[in-house]
Amino acid sequence: MGKTITLSEFIIKRQSEFANATGELSRLLNDIAVAAKVISRDVRRAGLIDNILGAQGSTNVQGEEQQKLDVIADEQFIKMLRNGGEVCGIASEENDDFVAFEDEVSRNGKYVVLFDPLDGSSNIDVNVSIGTIFSIFRRKSPVGSLVTIEDMLQKGTEQVVAGYVLYGSSTMLVYTTGNGVNGFTLDPSIGEFCLSHPDMKMPEKSRLYAMNEGNIAVCHPGIKAYAEYCQSFENDYGTPYSGRYIGSLVADFHRNLIKGGIYIYPVTTTSPKGKLRLLYECNPLALIAEQAGGLATDGKNRILDIQPTELHQRVGYFTGSKNQVEKVMELIREAEIKTV
Ligand code: AHG
Ligand code: MN
Ligand code: MN
Repeated sequence: MGKTITLSEFIIKRQSEFANATGELSRLLNDIAVAAKVISRDVRRAGLIDNILGAQGSTNVQGEEQQKLDVIADEQFIKMLRNGGEVCGIASEENDDFVAFEDEVSRNGKYVVLFDPLDGSSNIDVNVSIGTIFSIFRRKSPVGSLVTIEDMLQKGTEQVVAGYVLYGSSTMLVYTTGNGVNGFTLDPSIGEFCLSHPDMKMPEKSRLYAMNEGNIAVCHPGIKAYAEYCQSFENDYGTPYSGRYIGSLVADFHRNLIKGGIYIYPVTTTSPKGKLRLLYECNPLALIAEQAGGLATDGKNRILDIQPTELHQRVGYFTGSKNQVEKVMELIREAEIKTV
């Protein structure tokens, strides 16, 4: 085992590879890592502390019941980013509108951050892996002014950094700056994220598929055909695939990143816009997927090319190993030709 490389060391080393880097992005990434450690600590002790598990008794703008940890994680992230000085505004799943940081230092910040503070809320109370997802963009509005909605509604291709934190059997932070994907495991004994998964690559194909099959009756016929393909002996492996669905996007994605696989959350006849949110769930993981050699589409189009029009925009989502995403897209196309 070689020398331990902490996340902070890694960020500084990478910064020197960019000409004209000022260190602002590095400081921002470090702030996110600190927020992640605080949330990780709260998640780890959740069953022991009063007032941390269970429903908050409120709903967010999307009509979803908020859990106490959703709100705690959201506040933690906002506090860290507001005080950091590199960020002029944020948008998150738990806030109806984006938040502009009004103090002078923040108004001079170059970056906006969009995030899902706690992903997999339904798994919080049952001790199953949950996560945080984040996306960083350079602002479009002039430095010094208040952040605008245009700063938030940028295409995924414009992301400067995309990452997630997984509160699993260990806590991991995985991120990309568009130059490969690296994963860091939190060593709780020293309180540092340490490089454990350098240059992560998603296998091109696998025998794993992840979708909520309870929705199969309301799915596109091409998706039904893909599920049947996975379950048959006539697929490319000659034996049925294994279904793996945790119900926490971050955890399902992370498994697929390491072992290969596909994650599907399509539009359905009952949810015609889909469930997952483009800006703070799909885009960041799409950039990571592509950087690791995988794909992310809405069934037809590349996720990163979609021009967002709304903060909480939903989209059908297919991400994972290249061959598997291509296969389901092919079956969707074929099913549409048949029905014409
Ligand atoms: P969130 O907890 O941030 O609202 O996201 C939940 C998402 C995602 O994490 C997960 O993959 C999906 O919802 C699960 O949905 P179903 O329970 O409908 O399968
Ligand atoms: Mn989520
Ligand atoms: Mn969430």
